[in-house]
Amino acid sequence: MPPSRTSRSLADPSPASRLSLISRHLDSTTTSYPPINTPYSIERDSSPSSDSDHYTPHLTQAPSSRRHLHTSARMSKQAAHPTLLIPGPIEVSDEVAASMSHFAQSHVGQPFVNTFGETLSMLRQLFQTTNPKSQPFAIAGSGTLGWDLVAANLVEPGEDVLVLHSGYFADSFADCLTTYGAKATQLKAPIGDRPQLPEIEKALKEKKYKAVTVTHVDTSTGVLSQIQPLSDLLQRVSPETLLIVDGVCSVGGESLHFDDMRIDFALTATQKAIGCPPGLSISMASERAMDVFKSRKSPPGSYYASFKNWVPIMQNYEAKKPSYFATPPTQLVQALHTALTQLLAKPVADRIAQHQKVSRKVKKAVADLGLKQLATDEDNAANTMTAIYLPEGLTPPEILPGLMQKGVVFAGGLHKEIATKYIRFGHMGVSAMDEGRGEIDKAIEALGQSLKEVQQAKGQ
Ligand SMILES: Cc1ncc(COP(=O)(O)O)c(C=O)c1O
Repeated sequence: MPPSRTSRSLADPSPASRLSLISRHLDSTTTSYPPINTPYSIERDSSPSSDSDHYTPHLTQAPSSRRHLHTSARMSKQAAHPTLLIPGPIEVSDEVAASMSHFAQSHVGQPFVNTFGETLSMLRQLFQTTNPKSQPFAIAGSGTLGWDLVAANLVEPGEDVLVLHSGYFADSFADCLTTYGAKATQLKAPIGDRPQLPEIEKALKEKKYKAVTVTHVDTSTGVLSQIQPLSDLLQRVSPETLLIVDGVCSVGGESLHFDDMRIDFALTATQKAIGCPPGLSISMASERAMDVFKSRKSPPGSYYASFKNWVPIMQNYEAKKPSYFATPPTQLVQALHTALTQLLAKPVADRIAQHQKVSRKVKKAVADLGLKQLATDEDNAANTMTAIYLPEGLTPPEILPGLMQKGVVFAGGLHKEIATKYIRFGHMGVSAMDEGRGEIDKAIEALGQSLKEVQQAKGQ
């Protein structure tokens, strides 16, 4: 058998060969990927499958694409790249990107402490809480860390949690809770829908639940859950049950009023509608949640995720006092500070309205193409993303490379039962807020064209 490319390169000590070996991991188009860590995702199939699928920056494209040239120019000082319109991570503004290359700072030096402190205070505005006893957290980690914070601090082993399921992410949240010894009961809706209030009420009356978790926008289905009616139901039927909101795909793009909706814990991450690169777990705990934590009978179930370790640090930073438990990612905190400053330059309500407007435009375009969404009706469709069924017989790996060639990156399906039947379009953050960038229009056009091309090639 001839040696594989890798083994040949390893055996060949020439500088060119070694350079190729070193650089190969940087070149996503020539690498064959190992299977992704979720059995159902086909996300990586959006990578170009051959050299002919390479993305060409618009600057080198034919004059017919000139319209996009303007788009790319508006897009900035960043290197030309396909527009990232997956449901997170998303495009970031030039200012946020520049903050990621902030010069090195001591994490306990006053300039950085001030930046971190302001960032935490801005989170209060983002979540719309004015209670000084609400507790913001920004901790190095991804959105998943928010689940660990809940499971390790707000629930004790053996306690029951009701997990409202509107897609893949509820399965994972339930799995996390179980890992810490909680008893997670899932209330599942058919794909494209969310659990309904009467069945939630019935479940709440059957058992005493320490907490109810709800995914505000499930990123695998694009289904939006309504928080206010759920909160009202809890007040009426089980007021002592904590309301936990997974807002990873919603905070910054969907309406979420922490105080008004009586939320006890809302968790999110930097890389979605907040418009910052991935790497920070962001959350807000209510005064009541902090009291529940303080009255735990057992110690927190984690070291890194323990409120006991993080609360004094967050409080010190917010008071502009240096403090240390574990090193914060200083550049990322600078980027979050920039993202939040830009985000809060307008009222949050205006931002939400703009996301709704762009979402309506996308959903209309999808319907005009004759395509159906996973979300079964308008009322439960997210404003930050759209999950789109492909026409019968087409699969994401057939569509996504064509989109990539046109400078647009969408995601494949993520819900295990239907992953090969749909794609996901993220329309949040700067791409939705600054329509002048033309990214949403470009994506809509690219979707229509790619579908036509694939259908023609298949003789459909
Ligand atoms: C709704 C939801 N919850 C949780 C997560 C987990 O976040 P992360 O991938 O940043 O760990 C995601 C990720 O996409 C998500 O969409």
